[in-house]
Amino acid sequence: MIEFHDNVFRLTTDHTAYLFRVTPFGHVEHLHYGGPVPLSDGAALAAKTAIARGSSVMYDESSDTYCLDDLAWEWSGVGKGDFRNPPAELTIPNRALPDGAFTNDFVYVSHEILAGPLPMETLPTAYGDEAETVILRLKEKATPVALELIYTVYAHTDVITRRAVLRNEGEAPVVIDKLMSYMLDMVPAAELTFTTFDGAWIREARRHDRPVASGIYVNEGSTGASGHRHNPGVLLSEEHCSEEQGRCWGFNLLYSGNHYTAVEKSENGLVRIMSGISPRCFRYTLAPGVGFETPEGVMTYSDGGFNGLSAHFHDFVNGHVIRGDWKGKERPVLCNDWEACFFSFRERKLLSLAKRAKKAGAELFVLDDGWFVGRNDDKGGLGDYTVDRKKLPHGLEGLCARINKLGMSFGLWMEPESVNENSDLYRAHPDWAVKLPGRKPSYGRNQLLLDLVNPAVRDYIVENVGRILDSCPIAYVKWDMNRHMSDMYSPFCENGAFFHEYIKGLYDVLGRIFYPRPHILFESCSSGGNRFDLGMLCFSQQIWASDDTDAIERVKIQGGLSYLYPLSAMGAHISEAPHQQTLRDTPLSTRFHTAAFGALGWEMDIGTLTFAERKEAKKDMDFYKAHRRTFQFGRFRRLGRQNGMETWVALGEGEAVAARFLLDNEAAAPADVLRVPGLAPQGRYRVERQTKGVRVGPLASLLKHVAPVSLKKGGFIIRTIDKFFMLPDGEEKYTLTGSALGEGVPLNNRFVGTGYNKDIRMLGDFGSELYYLKEEA
Ligand code: GLA
Repeated sequence: MIEFHDNVFRLTTDHTAYLFRVTPFGHVEHLHYGGPVPLSDGAALAAKTAIARGSSVMYDESSDTYCLDDLAWEWSGVGKGDFRNPPAELTIPNRALPDGAFTNDFVYVSHEILAGPLPMETLPTAYGDEAETVILRLKEKATPVALELIYTVYAHTDVITRRAVLRNEGEAPVVIDKLMSYMLDMVPAAELTFTTFDGAWIREARRHDRPVASGIYVNEGSTGASGHRHNPGVLLSEEHCSEEQGRCWGFNLLYSGNHYTAVEKSENGLVRIMSGISPRCFRYTLAPGVGFETPEGVMTYSDGGFNGLSAHFHDFVNGHVIRGDWKGKERPVLCNDWEACFFSFRERKLLSLAKRAKKAGAELFVLDDGWFVGRNDDKGGLGDYTVDRKKLPHGLEGLCARINKLGMSFGLWMEPESVNENSDLYRAHPDWAVKLPGRKPSYGRNQLLLDLVNPAVRDYIVENVGRILDSCPIAYVKWDMNRHMSDMYSPFCENGAFFHEYIKGLYDVLGRIFYPRPHILFESCSSGGNRFDLGMLCFSQQIWASDDTDAIERVKIQGGLSYLYPLSAMGAHISEAPHQQTLRDTPLSTRFHTAAFGALGWEMDIGTLTFAERKEAKKDMDFYKAHRRTFQFGRFRRLGRQNGMETWVALGEGEAVAARFLLDNEAAAPADVLRVPGLAPQGRYRVERQTKGVRVGPLASLLKHVAPVSLKKGGFIIRTIDKFFMLPDGEEKYTLTGSALGEGVPLNNRFVGTGYNKDIRMLGDFGSELYYLKEEA
């Protein structure tokens, strides 16, 4: 709901309130963002200034306490006494000054409350009819520049979005060096912690916490994509906030390009947060009569700890960001050939891979890189997409028909934003690649980017990709982008606008290709999670979370992403062990349990598993499919670490799943406790540990504890047993109430080296376990 009374605005969601007011001087003052408070308390929540501090600059001679530096704002300016980080850096033309002036001071003119969100002309936005919007119209005090602050309330997901539009209403150009989507000044009641999700290729989304101390901390993307270095989503939390308890705020941006979030603690303890397009290498000349739209910022608040924030983000993304027929729909189990084949395959190899995957429960087969002419390694071929008939003698149509005949749908990889110099496209249109005139370009993965600012390039991609997608029943697309941007230049925009215009071009292309084909399940990818952001999720229903498929690394990556994004949006695959990037030897069960908390797939040749493992895999897949809604769309909670084990829980309709991952294996482990908060307190739940098989081969020398004879490790008998049997591991069954489970149930012992029986929980390095909880009728 959006209310306005006595110059105070109140935006309310189901569990939060956001208040601001217009001061007598016309500035928009931030009053409150947090739990519900009445509109009538608004004025009392203002930051107080009973007397001016030393060295203050007073805004106007009519007041000796109104100092812009001391108050909390929804937007601030430059040059009128607020010396904090400004949300807008503009050069505004001024007749008296040949090179314009930096000063800007925006004051309230009027507002308008509308039903629904307000779509943008140039960028994607969240959507949902039940939303409400208020547009605050501000004007620069002395020059013809207007600013709109746009707030949209998504009440049931406890999300408020914000963005700004700057309009040049004068007759000379205004230069924008920085324009944030939003800013707000918090008046914290406790010390705050700033949390970011940082990483690298194959090490995405590691959570980092730091105290908000005096000065500015910036979380920025500068590679042309939102980037795996720093995800655009960030958190602020009060001291002692945990996964389950405490007050915290979450912020994200619907944007896939260079982003910027700055948190500043000022000299008087106010905390300013702002977010938007990164000002690095950004300069936009706003012509007379033109407006500039900033990407939509997303904000949420919870007093229920980080899991409370995540619940809001997950519901918001699933309900108001993701589009197409796959919105809210369970994702198919897929088999992607990449890690099994890389560039080396023939149709026959793919079909036998697909057959085995089908047997193990896969529903969709995805042909990754390497299917077009010139693509036998990553040095050529990008741009053309002419099917390599040596590899696929029956073309894509033939392969697709054969896959469909096996009872699976068919999906395809492509990288339409890139081009190799060794391609017909590049030979025909060298000027379509991004490079600076008169300079040799720099390469990333041996490739250049196509200039998506050029309308002809966009039309080509839309037409070419569209033709491929319509050539046979393609049910899924993996759209990749494998390089950071360098040599930024397009003849179609001014230099400082390149990064932003590229992303606008990308959104244009994606919208034209995928909105008319809503049946396609679209997974975006950028060397894994290099573009895992809300902008991409306006087009793709899921994103390949990382090129790292190691299950233990994935606990960290998917765990990090889960603060901001729902599990249904994360591509998560089971791959080979030892793992090709970490050399870690992870049990099949752990690889399954990690992938199950996401859009699960196979990324390996199932033929490399033992007979016993394949049997287990089939059982796992049946379990996953029976409870897939809970895994992908259930209420997800991270429960932190106990005894070296990380616990994840997903609560579904009348059921729940809890997985525990052993990240740090210690001898004589203390008692483990399973705690599942959030169940119906009076409900009675049947709790069953899903027994899993433990490989016999590696444990051969330990078999002397249970076998009457001593067997040779690596010998024929052990190898044969290893192929066909696995040691059953820890059965556990209880029935108890949701309230008891919320408090925690002690579990059976882990293996401690003193013997073996069927109740012992066998974990070992990087082992895991899965509990299934079913509410009794
Ligand atoms: C990127 C992707 C991988 C795979 C390869 C193919 O690295 O992230 O999943 O598709 O490209 O070249």
